[in-house]
Amino acid sequence: MQVQENFSLKKLNTFGIDVTAKYFATFNTVEKINELLDFNKHQTPNAKPQTIILGGGSNILFTKKFDGLVLKNEIKGIKIIKEDEHYVYVQCAAGENWHQFVLYCINNNFAGVENLSLIPGNVGASPMQNIGAYGVELKEVFYALEAFHLTEKRIHHFTLNDCEFGYRESVFKKKYKNQFIITNVIFKLNKIPHFNTSYGAIEQELEKMDVKELSIKVISDAVINIRTSKLPDPSKIGNAGSFFKNPEVTHSILDILYSKFPGIVGYNLPNGNVKLAAGWLIEQCGFKGYRKGDAGCHEKQALVLVNYGKANGDEIFNLSEMIITSVKEKFGVVLEREVNII
Ligand code: FAD
Ligand code: EPU
Repeated sequence: MQVQENFSLKKLNTFGIDVTAKYFATFNTVEKINELLDFNKHQTPNAKPQTIILGGGSNILFTKKFDGLVLKNEIKGIKIIKEDEHYVYVQCAAGENWHQFVLYCINNNFAGVENLSLIPGNVGASPMQNIGAYGVELKEVFYALEAFHLTEKRIHHFTLNDCEFGYRESVFKKKYKNQFIITNVIFKLNKIPHFNTSYGAIEQELEKMDVKELSIKVISDAVINIRTSKLPDPSKIGNAGSFFKNPEVTHSILDILYSKFPGIVGYNLPNGNVKLAAGWLIEQCGFKGYRKGDAGCHEKQALVLVNYGKANGDEIFNLSEMIITSVKEKFGVVLEREVNII
């Protein structure tokens, strides 16, 4: 067991925020988690030990030094656990990189995750917010997961229903927040692909690519092209993808907004409500391309807040507050943060 003290997390979060963790360690087995939790408990015998699980650090904003133990998940391994005529069930360890897992599926002709290509981060974090992109959400390919309870110190099994997935939501972000370490996820993948090209930008990209025949690889390539054309690369500009969720409103609220703002962008939801494009709302408030010090709002995608270099977590957070206030004043709509604030 190797625990490092006053460890810099700058390279372990895609915002590139320069903060330290009092203690930092990696783990690649459940046994190691146990040892590390015992260590942390001994450091703070009179207080509740603080622990954070870190995957790829691509959906997290550190606003202060972390006065506890940061545990980085490095459990590896991918294996097929069962299959039938239609489906293959693949168990993937939480510390595997998400996009590498998508490529594994594409290379083996296992369909279902191709629309989720190039999302940064690890497999273990994918159920946390039920990752989604280009017309598909994780819950559509999710079968089950295993997670280690931090205080009971035992593995729990979760089925699809147990996870209570919603738009960028799950039990792990709500009632079980900070209680579990997800150790592996089982995916139910299609042997016979059902191509999902419903998202407008995919259709346009496929036309541009002059695609003659659809395949999961072609869809993955189209998604990669779209993503690289508008989302900033965290290795060049610090960011955590969409900082806010797209807000949901009723049709009657949309009608009122539409009468004042005819350009408003929204999508119908199956429940009869409408999801508004938060990027449009933020752009209308004049923030697209805005910069204060090193904290900014991306010039191509207003929903993405960026760190141009030396911004600290508070500066990014304060900018997010300004945006929430401004959107609320102009549209009466309250934006909710997607990124996990520490
Ligand atoms: P981290 O940032 O390390 O952690 C996120 C949260 O999950 C934290 O609260 C952490 O404590 C917790 N956590 C992590 N691993 C575990 C575990 N094993 N057990 C328990 N808790 C855990 N997201 C989308 O949904 N769709 C997108 O299209 C998308 N695009 C993005 C584009 C860019 C450029 C970036 C930077 C981010 C994007 N994201 C997107 C957000 C992000 O990639 C996802 O949320 C991803 O799943 C985060 O994975 P991670 O391993 O980096 O998680
Ligand atoms: N728009 C603007 N100005 C902007 C940005 C967007 O007007 O600066 C409008 C445009 O009309 C555009 C529409 O908003 O057509 C939608 O934009 P985009 O297709 O880029 O998608 P998004 O709604 O901004 C969501 C997810 C992304 C996901 C994409 C593709 C959320 C919070 N974000 O973004 O997820 O990759 O759709 O499915 O739901 C993430 O969660 O981190 C993330 C990047």
